[in-house]
Amino acid sequence: MTTKGLWIDGRLRYGGDWNPEQWPPEVWHDDVALMRAAGVDLVTVGVFAWSRLEPAPGRYTLDWLDRVLDLLHDNGIQVALATPTASPPPWFTSAHPGAMPVTADGVRLHHGSRDTYCAAAPAYRAAARGIAQVLATRYAHHPALALWRVHNEYGTTCHCAHAEAAFRRWLRERHGSLDALNDAWVTSFWGQHYADWAQVGAPRATQYLANPGQLLDFRRFWSDTLLCAYTEQRDLLRAANPAVPITTNYVLGDWVPVDHARWAREVDLVAVDHYPSRVDGGAEEQTALAADLARGWARHGAGRPAPWLLMESAPNQIHVPGRMHTKEPGRMTRHSLAHVARGSAGVMFFQWRAPAGGAERFHSAVVSHAGADTRVFREATRLGAALGRLAETTPGRVQAAVAIAYDAASGWALRHPGMPRDGLDHPGEVAAAHRALWHAGITTDLITPGDPLDGCRLLVLPALYLAADATVDWVRRHVHAGGHLLVTWLSGVADTHARIRLGGYPGAYRDLLGVRVEEFHPLADDERAPLTGGGTGRIWSETVHLTGAETVTGYLGGVLDGRPAITRHRVGDAHTWYVSTRPDQDTYRRLLTDAARLAGVEATCPAAPPGVEAVRRRDGDQSWLFLLNHTDRTQRVPATGHELLTGEPVTDAVTVAPGGVAVLREARR
Ligand code: GAL
Repeated sequence: MTTKGLWIDGRLRYGGDWNPEQWPPEVWHDDVALMRAAGVDLVTVGVFAWSRLEPAPGRYTLDWLDRVLDLLHDNGIQVALATPTASPPPWFTSAHPGAMPVTADGVRLHHGSRDTYCAAAPAYRAAARGIAQVLATRYAHHPALALWRVHNEYGTTCHCAHAEAAFRRWLRERHGSLDALNDAWVTSFWGQHYADWAQVGAPRATQYLANPGQLLDFRRFWSDTLLCAYTEQRDLLRAANPAVPITTNYVLGDWVPVDHARWAREVDLVAVDHYPSRVDGGAEEQTALAADLARGWARHGAGRPAPWLLMESAPNQIHVPGRMHTKEPGRMTRHSLAHVARGSAGVMFFQWRAPAGGAERFHSAVVSHAGADTRVFREATRLGAALGRLAETTPGRVQAAVAIAYDAASGWALRHPGMPRDGLDHPGEVAAAHRALWHAGITTDLITPGDPLDGCRLLVLPALYLAADATVDWVRRHVHAGGHLLVTWLSGVADTHARIRLGGYPGAYRDLLGVRVEEFHPLADDERAPLTGGGTGRIWSETVHLTGAETVTGYLGGVLDGRPAITRHRVGDAHTWYVSTRPDQDTYRRLLTDAARLAGVEATCPAAPPGVEAVRRRDGDQSWLFLLNHTDRTQRVPATGHELLTGEPVTDAVTVAPGGVAVLREARR
């Protein structure tokens, strides 16, 4: 990943998706005037406009887009120009029914929504390159163009004959020979040995449990295939003007077959969309998690801290199970600034103006169905002004000394059928560890196995199921260099092909942890394992034998009574912890606080009261402290410096309004 000049130009970008193709030109002028009033300086255009840009194969109608880009430029607003390839026009479906996706059950899908194509189908790829090339040729040097946004949220898969043929090619490349594939997939089990490449297929619906190696490779194949679909567009856009940065917006979620860390090497800027799915404090926890993930991916691609961008977020209602939840006044601002605190180069919304119809007619927008004389528009305008006042924080690097490892493939592998328990969830365990640290006030990096660990005092591996040999070496090097380690259940159990590492769990890390796990005791959803010290474990428990470690917390009652639940071991200067169950939230918070303290790590702002999130960014000897008050009470935080949002000096304590935010330029020490 290279970071081109635009993103480190010392300001925070503000805007969102705008769909002028849905409106007559009079509305464009109103919208641009409103954007200026709100302080918007970057809008994404054209995401779903393919049928308006190419109404018939090879016939292009670009005049309207010329006018839109000129209008924005005349008003000092830059453009993230999208390639519209996430929503092919109806003519494409009619002309290429064989490029429509097929589910694992063999059902072919039809036009009617978006994202309905097989990204391995040559006809789709050719059409996508075609429209991208037309846009590149026409707009690569347009003065409004600041960023190319390729596609929208890559994430669809398919099981059709095109996908299957591409999967075979990918497997040949990955495994080299059929013998190696048979070995990796352990096809000796259930007599699945393949004698010819032609016998190897996509994992379609089958009678009983599917082969885990095949399922895992199919996910990896789709991540790589979608990445090729991205890079081929990127390369032609880049050829048209190498100075313009190029990205694609990541969507987060368990269903996404994309290894975002790998993709980070191919984008000029990591861009993420984030829509919390919870209403209570969980939304704030999810926001911090998403921002820390994005920062980690940006660093992974760059090999050093690099900016990233919140590319989409909801200005008001968010979808929560069964309904939409209207964000309380101030919450949109707080969520937006939580992303900025953790490194986002700006705030972008989906969407600018609410559509008059279509599938997402009730999705929130800055300009809602009620117009701009609204609380949301006024809040958005105040946010635009606030971002202007925070520009000086952009060089600041987020300070964190604890890192949690996240690995997309471990998440996929744990989801396979035939595991000792349903619902095993690496991203969920990453979130649980992150949440515990968040409640402890400890800022955390989220990293990819193999990332540099300089500055990391405590590395956390939450259910990091797969352990490639290189990952094991990476963890070992960290510990032998004096770095502390905390490993939770189901980590290191399998190798990179999801084959079990034998000799007792957690195979890869037994010696580092000084434990050997003999058997699992998965818990039912409503079951709790009482622990010494008053807490409980859920989801999982294990028979743990000590082979050097000491017991920190034991199981109480049941077949595991008196046996170790949480252990600690000493390896040189480092402490290594093993956690064989999922502790309740309070126990987990205390455990991670203890592990961090032993590693020499304290809360980011120990004086911050409960419910006030603190993130520090630093550039040389200058630091900025972001304080986000998630409570409904006024809070005071002892500090000295200068509050940027009010412009007031702070001599002993900063006051943060209920649900509000303060950003302090701290006095230099
Ligand atoms: C995003 C997507 C947008 C819109 C939004 C709704 O994931 O990119 O187009 O659908 O979700 O929340």
